[in-house]
Amino acid sequence: MNYVHALRFRFLTPLYDAVVAIGMRDKVFKRRLIDQAEIAEGMRVLDVGCGTGTLTILGRQAHPHAEFTGIDGDPEILATARRKAAVAGLSVRFDHGLADALPYPDASFDRVVSSLLFHHLVPQQKRRAFAEIRRVLAADGQLHIADFGKPAGIYATAVSAVLARFDGIENTRDNFEGRLPALLVDAGFTVLERQRFSTLFGTVSLLAATRAPSTTGDES
Ligand SMILES: C[S@@+](CC[C@H](N)C(=O)[O-])C[C@H]1O[C@@H](n2cnc3c(N)ncnc32)[C@H](O)[C@@H]1O
Repeated sequence: MNYVHALRFRFLTPLYDAVVAIGMRDKVFKRRLIDQAEIAEGMRVLDVGCGTGTLTILGRQAHPHAEFTGIDGDPEILATARRKAAVAGLSVRFDHGLADALPYPDASFDRVVSSLLFHHLVPQQKRRAFAEIRRVLAADGQLHIADFGKPAGIYATAVSAVLARFDGIENTRDNFEGRLPALLVDAGFTVLERQRFSTLFGTVSLLAATRAPSTTGDES
């Protein structure tokens, strides 16, 4: 099975929060993603590939009256997430599980959010994960993703070539070719909004998608 840990090698996981804070200013685009998701009181929100829980925790802090669950396939990183939530005094549920086999009934969430997960998944896993996310979303639910997209400019293109070697050529190809929106459409979503965010590690795309089907195509 293809499984890429947060910084590819397990022994690097303790450095993850520092690396993404310095290299990506991750809290800036994670806050934007939470804003974009327009989470209302009482909504059930799932963070897929939650890692150390930064996005889940930011979401819960911004929306104390919504219900947040994070899920990740790495039990060790989930221990960090639980610790961070406890230190922040927040009640957040963190579950162990895979993005392409979500352990939740149909229509259990109003919003699914996810950051920096999909470039860890090979194309088949991406497709299955999108199908699973669509299944667990309510009929009027939305998916909000922040992940590497098509590099904007020479610097981001050069960095993406390095990152592809680090995280895996097959995992990252659809991201760097700007194909996540097309894959979402194939999975039955309508892609609503796209924003870009430049980081030292390359271009992050913020996508919003509704569960309803449509016919739009590639990221430009
Ligand atoms: C780069 S980290 C991103 C973590 C967090 N979302 C963030 O933005 O900081 C990618 C995370 O995806 C998790 N992951 C990788 N493959 C997964 C899969 N198939 N199912 C669930 N989680 C997965 C890893 O364990 C890791 O925590």
